[in-house]
Amino acid sequence: MKFYKPLSTVILMSGLVFALPLKAEIVNLSTPSTSLVLDAEKGGPFRFLYYGDKISASDIANLASAGTANRDAYPVYGNYPQGEAALSVTHPDGNMTLDMEVADIKTSANEADGSTVTTVSMRDKSYPISLDINYRTWPEEDVIETWVDITNNGKGAVTLNRFMSGYLPVRYGDVWLSSLYGSWANEGRLNQEPLRHGVKMIKNKDGVRNSHTSHAEIMLSLDGKPMENTGRTIGAALCYSGNYKLFIDTDDSNYHHLFAGINEENSAYNLKKGETFSTPALALTFSDEGLSGASRNFHRWGRNHRLANGNELRKILLNSWEGVYFDINEEGMAQMMKDIASMGGELFVMDDGWFGDKYYRDNDSASLGDWTVDTRKLPHGIQGLVDEAEKNGIKFGIWIEPEMTNSRSRLYAEHPEYIIKAENRDIVEGRGGTQLVLDLANPKVQDLVFNVVDTLMTKYPLIDYIKWDANAPIMQHGSQYLTRDNQSHLYIDYHKGFEKVLDRIRAKYPDVTIQACASGGGRANWGVLPWFDEFWVSDNTDALQRVYMQWGTSYFFPAVAMASHISAAPNHQTFRTIPLKYRTDVAMSGRLGMEIQPKNMTDEEKDFCRRAINTYKEIRPIVQQGDIYRLLSPYDNLGAASLMYVSPRKDDAVYYWWKTETFVNQQLPRVKMAGLDPDKTYTVTELNRIDNTPLPYEGKSFTGRFLMDNGLEMPLDHNVDYHKRNDYASRILRLKAN
Ligand code: DGJ
Repeated sequence: MKFYKPLSTVILMSGLVFALPLKAEIVNLSTPSTSLVLDAEKGGPFRFLYYGDKISASDIANLASAGTANRDAYPVYGNYPQGEAALSVTHPDGNMTLDMEVADIKTSANEADGSTVTTVSMRDKSYPISLDINYRTWPEEDVIETWVDITNNGKGAVTLNRFMSGYLPVRYGDVWLSSLYGSWANEGRLNQEPLRHGVKMIKNKDGVRNSHTSHAEIMLSLDGKPMENTGRTIGAALCYSGNYKLFIDTDDSNYHHLFAGINEENSAYNLKKGETFSTPALALTFSDEGLSGASRNFHRWGRNHRLANGNELRKILLNSWEGVYFDINEEGMAQMMKDIASMGGELFVMDDGWFGDKYYRDNDSASLGDWTVDTRKLPHGIQGLVDEAEKNGIKFGIWIEPEMTNSRSRLYAEHPEYIIKAENRDIVEGRGGTQLVLDLANPKVQDLVFNVVDTLMTKYPLIDYIKWDANAPIMQHGSQYLTRDNQSHLYIDYHKGFEKVLDRIRAKYPDVTIQACASGGGRANWGVLPWFDEFWVSDNTDALQRVYMQWGTSYFFPAVAMASHISAAPNHQTFRTIPLKYRTDVAMSGRLGMEIQPKNMTDEEKDFCRRAINTYKEIRPIVQQGDIYRLLSPYDNLGAASLMYVSPRKDDAVYYWWKTETFVNQQLPRVKMAGLDPDKTYTVTELNRIDNTPLPYEGKSFTGRFLMDNGLEMPLDHNVDYHKRNDYASRILRLKAN
């Protein structure tokens, strides 16, 4: 067993690497408020020393005496194989061990994006395999991305059995895990639990959609039960679109061991001579401002560096799905465009059902892959719709599901070799009894998928928005393209192919807005978002359930990326009847849109939405680009939920409050605000007001200090005429600094 050697005198500067007289070589990776400290002495092991609040040079010098994790920064399998490893391989001669030493440390600044990458290179002492363990820091965001490049410098193929993106030891204690679970129509559910001895694993094996059932992002609260705005919190987000595995092994050492990376199950990777395998990035953040603090770090980093067009405001749209489902026709589309334009919307998106000529897309059992217009439904084609949108002064968007086909399609008849299928097995079909997944490992399929977008965009350059759907998992393990000895590459090569296609699309069409949808919220992951502007949070548009789902999703993703639509009552998924005011107040806490048949709305409802859309335009920069402060969790079952967004300069804020249950003589907590400037004075205005009389504090001013210490009292219900009374209540307040 090796023990950590004490550090000698250390001279340090942030973000730089220093050789130390007594051989230890400290790598101090710092962001504005955090430090990650490693020891990478050449010829020695690579050690993790510290991750947390920014610490001083003198504290780093004394770290060893204070006690640190006596752990490899990237544990490999072989010597001392009892513990979990991040990397495990089989060499060409059958040897299953690795024994790595630090070979080099390099730092390179990327002038284009301002980030700095520090690379610790490691080599095996006896075998021709090397690792580059990379850390990217950003000068303005407290996020560090880490990933590993594994290179086979030998002659024979090395099998990678496990190849995690990163490892992090976290001091044993009253550490709580916050993670998300939930499948179709119930995505983003928050789960909070203390870490106990044993292994807690979060994984996905869908093959295509990786944020159903669980999410590849977690938070760890280091100071006991998770708090929203206080307490040391680590966030970890695996940026990968495919199968993943995050697990925390709490053994009887003094540490919880967090590993995160591609799910290696049934995915052994044969690394050829000279080949390098790069793991996806694991993004780490630390905040001493609780879960919301970690969220703000992820949101800022995401908007600035990881979300397509993350700093731009999103248009307010109407999507046709819940309004007409597959019943697309020219008059219907024209009427919806006119209606959304008249309510102040900026974009209309035609969903599923517009395509197919031999087989018709009248339901979900045919035509995926045949991306030609169904002229029975749309005699003037897409151009007719684009023109109609222009006439209404709005933009036009369209739905596609380019990774898929149906067994009832021209594409499948002509190219049965393009689908995912195991040799000697019958095809396994999904949605509609006929859906099949195209094999994106195959470059010809990559071209085909690219061409779906390229053809649409070339023919109709005014298309402003694409909803990219994916409604099937990989239903059978088999690639007709990969060789027999590389069948285990299927899951990984699918996503490499996916990324290649997206790279080509974004190189040519950087500005088109693209939504990631996958049976609702199946693609909410930072591995997808570099190419997508937003994601569909869920096919469940019930506003009350959305309070819970959007709350969970907001842990990791900013409002600008979270599509949130006003839909009909009764709701099409839960059949619950929720008043328009509440539905609107929930949708306005994300990227606002509508998913409704406007012709079924009354004039009064349309007027309300028109005013709300107008109001949203005013608060849109705060919601979509501001800082989130979650205040009262719906998961605490206290009868209400509340959160707010604050502008970066703290001169403007929007406060949301939604009642989550209703009883007579109910006692609800008074919610303290957060994130304001204590010394600024804010004037309160209620938005989307339906009450006959204004709130008592309407137009009054309060200091940020008062609002954060006391909050404002929310009435239990709305002061409306008797026939308009119902069991829902919600409030949106704007707080503008004077
Ligand atoms: C699943 C998506 O989540 C829905 O919004 C809708 O686009 C349907 N697919 C269309 O088939």
